[in-house]
Amino acid sequence: MPDHVLEIRGLRAGVGGKEILKGIDLTVASGEVHVIMGPNGSGKSTLSHVIMGRPGYEVLGGSVTLDGADVLAMAPYERAHAGLFLAMQYPTEVPGVPLVDMLEAAFAAADRDVAGMRERISVEAGRIGFDDRFLSRPLNVDLSGGEKKRNETLQLGVLQPAIAILDEIDSGLDVDALRACARRIEAATEETGLGVLAITHYNRLLHELRADHVHVLARGAIQRSGGPDLALELETTGYAAFGVDEPARADAAGRADGGPLADPFADPLA
Ligand SMILES: Nc1ncnc2c1ncn2[C@@H]1O[C@H](COP(=O)(O)OP(=O)(O)OP(=O)(O)O)[C@@H](O)[C@H]1O
Ligand SMILES: [Mg+2]
Repeated sequence: MPDHVLEIRGLRAGVGGKEILKGIDLTVASGEVHVIMGPNGSGKSTLSHVIMGRPGYEVLGGSVTLDGADVLAMAPYERAHAGLFLAMQYPTEVPGVPLVDMLEAAFAAADRDVAGMRERISVEAGRIGFDDRFLSRPLNVDLSGGEKKRNETLQLGVLQPAIAILDEIDSGLDVDALRACARRIEAATEETGLGVLAITHYNRLLHELRADHVHVLARGAIQRSGGPDLALELETTGYAAFGVDEPARADAAGRADGGPLADPFADPLA
């Protein structure tokens, strides 16, 4: 079994001139499933983008390492090459690039044997009940929300990364697809030792994908960590105990320094 570890230490980061992450500490090792839950706008997707190196996000402090290597010093493609994978909350459509070409290019870049890629893809499609007819389309183009999430899961299955960050992989999936995708990811933790950092709003993802640790991200930091029971508890209690996220509150009042994010319909006297 591989032995990889993603270590996030004191990570501070901002976007659009606003500090969103104010000191994140997390360690995800091979075979482990960590779940991040938290209010809308608390910075969950920001964390995923900062780990993967999306342009526009500014790292203000702290470190991210994969097996000791400085992830923040790498270009996004180098992060993928090192073994990181991100399933985005809103997967990007890439006109003109078929899935098979993209996966072959990823394999070739990593000096992996590209032979039998179509076969690999169709095995993975079968595992999550994804219809073959979607596979010839350009990457994510004209796929429904749920089909895009299945397409991300399929890529995860083919690429076999060391650590996968899954940003709301469950959103938009119907109940059958959710079960199939969650099962596939759970299987990867056992078959290839995949380490998972799964962002979700709902405990239902965790029926098949078994969480080892659940963390609450609010106000820019991990406010609480626990076991799978914490996800269940949050479904009834919500996040009131963790306070409101500053960006959300500022936006609602319509006087955020975030400029275009300020709510134009907010009461100006609030
Ligand atoms: N490009 C940007 N410019 C300015 N602010 C941004 C930008 N991108 C994100 N933000 C703000 O950063 C904050 C965190 O956003 P993020 O997408 O990380 O939240 P989230 O926790 O993933 O929320 P959700 O549960 O709704 O997906 C929000 O207040 C958001 O409006
Ligand atoms: Mg998000």
